[in-house]
Amino acid sequence: MKKHWWHKATIYQIYPKSFMDSNGDGVGDLKGIISELDYLKKLGITAIWLSPVYQSPMDDNGYDISDYEAIADIFGDMADMEELLAEANKRHIRIIMDLVVNHTSDEHAWFVEARENPSSPERDFYIWRDQPNGLKSTFSGSAWQYDEASNQYYLHLFSKKQPDLNWENADLRQKIYDMMNRWIDKGVAGFRMDVIDLIGKIPDQEITGNGPKLHDYLKEMHQASLLNKDLLTVGETWGATPEIAKQYSNPDNHELSMVFQFEHIGLQHKPNAPKWDYETELNVPALKEIFTKWQTKLELGQGWNSLFWNNHDLPRVLSIWGNDGEYREKSGKAFAVLLHLMRGTPYIYQGEEIGMTNYPFADLTEIEDIESVNYAKEALEEGQDLESIMDSIRAIGRDNARTPMQWTAGQQAGFSRADKTWLPVHPNHEAINVEAALADSESLFYTYQKLVALRKTQDWLIDADFELLNTANKVFAYKRRTADESYLIVVNLSDQVQPFELAVEGEVIIGNTCVETVSKTKQLQAWDAFCLKI
Ligand code: NOJ
Repeated sequence: MKKHWWHKATIYQIYPKSFMDSNGDGVGDLKGIISELDYLKKLGITAIWLSPVYQSPMDDNGYDISDYEAIADIFGDMADMEELLAEANKRHIRIIMDLVVNHTSDEHAWFVEARENPSSPERDFYIWRDQPNGLKSTFSGSAWQYDEASNQYYLHLFSKKQPDLNWENADLRQKIYDMMNRWIDKGVAGFRMDVIDLIGKIPDQEITGNGPKLHDYLKEMHQASLLNKDLLTVGETWGATPEIAKQYSNPDNHELSMVFQFEHIGLQHKPNAPKWDYETELNVPALKEIFTKWQTKLELGQGWNSLFWNNHDLPRVLSIWGNDGEYREKSGKAFAVLLHLMRGTPYIYQGEEIGMTNYPFADLTEIEDIESVNYAKEALEEGQDLESIMDSIRAIGRDNARTPMQWTAGQQAGFSRADKTWLPVHPNHEAINVEAALADSESLFYTYQKLVALRKTQDWLIDADFELLNTANKVFAYKRRTADESYLIVVNLSDQVQPFELAVEGEVIIGNTCVETVSKTKQLQAWDAFCLKI
């Protein structure tokens, strides 16, 4: 198998509104990111996945783009973007742009023209029908919005300010590829492709994900923009199976480098229920089954997967599945060790490396996220009580991941000098912050730093096979083996002591506990985790 730089990479996701505010307006910006590149260099990451910084009315925090080739004023300008690329490059950090091409903003020039002038070529860049059908928006309600002027409806699988693009239109596709090429010329190292599994949709048959032409489009995109460039391309593919993942990411198919699929995240809510019907009791046997499936069915050379617990759409893993109280740091290390020693490319979401937690949102006035806001509105209309709605938002709402990064114990956690930040700073920043993490050689930060370093040098992380071991329910243990090396990874995913027989000895590669004690007592303490070379 040909190895690429991204096989040995760890990616760090930045949510620009919340990372670092340089100009005191309460919102993060590009200059803020530049000012913290040395911190990221210390963590050791290979690349940044930059959530959207393009011009946008910010209905969905930048996932509604009005100009793909301009920077949103709140984040800076193109000169700042170029400076970020140059400064990152100096530190051997690559920049992966978020590519949001399933939809644009309704304020994009294409949509403005399409709406104002139904006979323009741009009209066909979007999806118009005389009558709506049953398609629903992810952000509540119908996916069709009536346009009075033309007496037609346009499709929006997300907010009504995010009209879906019509990928059937070849001119539109070419415009997207040209735009990608201009970003590549600027020096970006790849793209994270937002809900890319939706671009092959057939609205009239109510087919949205994995539509019949999806892979043709991706192959065409590859030819037009990606060929022979050694970029990282990662598709956000909610409904992928290992079979589908191979279609996307088998190198012979010339589509994407890897998928970013969410099967394990599905355990954060009740089976077949909306996400708001959340589940905080981690089903460890189900988690083991899902990871084992992905580790074994996506064979080496046949495809590639991403490894993650957190992103900007998910609750903080420590709060939903870990222990964000007594065992906050220890459970953080357990999750990190479990994930980062599997095959795939690991992603760290900002703040994960210092163990940031969900926010105790008091009421709806503190909520910004359009998904949560729309859900609350709809649920209230349906007669649900406000407290149960707030309970769901607090547990699983997207704003949990989006509160400002906690840099110091000081005012606004060192994120901003503004009196008010766009989302409130978590009160626990007094204890949980970068400054404190860096000062403590035993902190979660250094576990991540070590895992990132291992990823760069240890080929077995790529090559070794995977075998799940038969253990107590709450213990996740696996072996990874190459022709001449074996590694054992053991993690207790619970607050309780668990039985565990350690039958072998070996060199400790990383861990958060004393392996000799585990061996002697035949027990794992709460959230014990370690990797042995055996
Ligand atoms: C997925 C993104 O991760 C999410 O934040 C966004 O709201 C939707 N796609 C729509 O672009």
